[in-house]
Amino acid sequence: MIDPMATAAVTRTLPYDWYADPAVLRVEQERIFARSWHYAARLDQVAEPGQLTTAYAGELPVVLARARDGELRGFVNVCRHRGHPLCEGDDRRETIQCPYHAWTYGLDGSLRRAPRSDREPAFDRSALGLVPVSVESFGPFVFVNPDRDAPPLADHLGDLPARLADGGLDVDALRFHRRDVADDYACNWKVCVENFLECYHCATAHPSLAKAIDVSPDAYGLEAHGLVASQIGPPKGVGAFAAGEIERGQFHLLFPGTVVNVMPGKPNLSIGPIVPRDVDRTARFLDYFVGPDVDDEWLAGYLELDEQVGREDRALVEAVQRGISSGGLEAGTLLGESEQLIAWFQSLVVGALGTDD
Ligand code: FES
Ligand SMILES: [Fe+2]
Repeated sequence: MIDPMATAAVTRTLPYDWYADPAVLRVEQERIFARSWHYAARLDQVAEPGQLTTAYAGELPVVLARARDGELRGFVNVCRHRGHPLCEGDDRRETIQCPYHAWTYGLDGSLRRAPRSDREPAFDRSALGLVPVSVESFGPFVFVNPDRDAPPLADHLGDLPARLADGGLDVDALRFHRRDVADDYACNWKVCVENFLECYHCATAHPSLAKAIDVSPDAYGLEAHGLVASQIGPPKGVGAFAAGEIERGQFHLLFPGTVVNVMPGKPNLSIGPIVPRDVDRTARFLDYFVGPDVDDEWLAGYLELDEQVGREDRALVEAVQRGISSGGLEAGTLLGESEQLIAWFQSLVVGALGTDD
């Protein structure tokens, strides 16, 4: 749980130059993104031996592959020879061959063949396998951590799986509907995350969402445990999002940037990362899943609401980036109660970056 004293003490945001300084982003990449679990792909993309897919873990391009031995592995998607990217998208194959000079790797990452290497007495094939990353799955969701010695995904998820199950959701029964990609948000990644972490803006900025979910401060729950911040939104009890199999909205952030959303009503879940592309550029995608029996009408209504809220949020975060990078103010102000999850997030950022620089 959040320590209320620590939370109450935080009344200022991070310094605004942390949202505009490329040096801060470099440190965030090294100390946060390179050491965290990120949602990357669906398990059905790599369910069978011979299947592979590509993804990103933060800024790191990775290839996920299930080898003949049945094990799912992940590697940096860059050739050990001279750096050509290896794969793109979903594929089914026995080996990975680089398009530049045809070095060929097994799906276990080992270097199998390198043309002309037999003419090089010092060539050590065994030392030139693909660089591994950590890969684990939860339900139909595959996560990647660039750190090959990362702590287990279960440590990062904490009680999230239990919360989803307690809320009426069987994640293993979900079917994938589609992926929405938005890789061009004109803001720092932290502006996107902070906007996700409070619903203080919902009553004014998201009238359609506020009709479905009770966003008033006494009804809308905010909690943080470990690396997961959770918002629990009870339905107002009208329309398609009245309590059904799913009793409450659940909106979780897995630090630093993976969001997990569940609306009340029928079984549904969307999941995806928020990652920096540049100091003022953020990439997102969301994979939408629904339960096996969800009808098209409910799904269409759910996606329409989500797209509407997404458009409203994009306008907000891009405007905030303009405001905070204007140079007119050094920092902003946080409400201790309604914005406690932003304080949680900012304290994790500060903790990861340290205060020495
Ligand atoms: S860069 Fe991959 S084989 Fe040369
Ligand atoms: Fe919003």
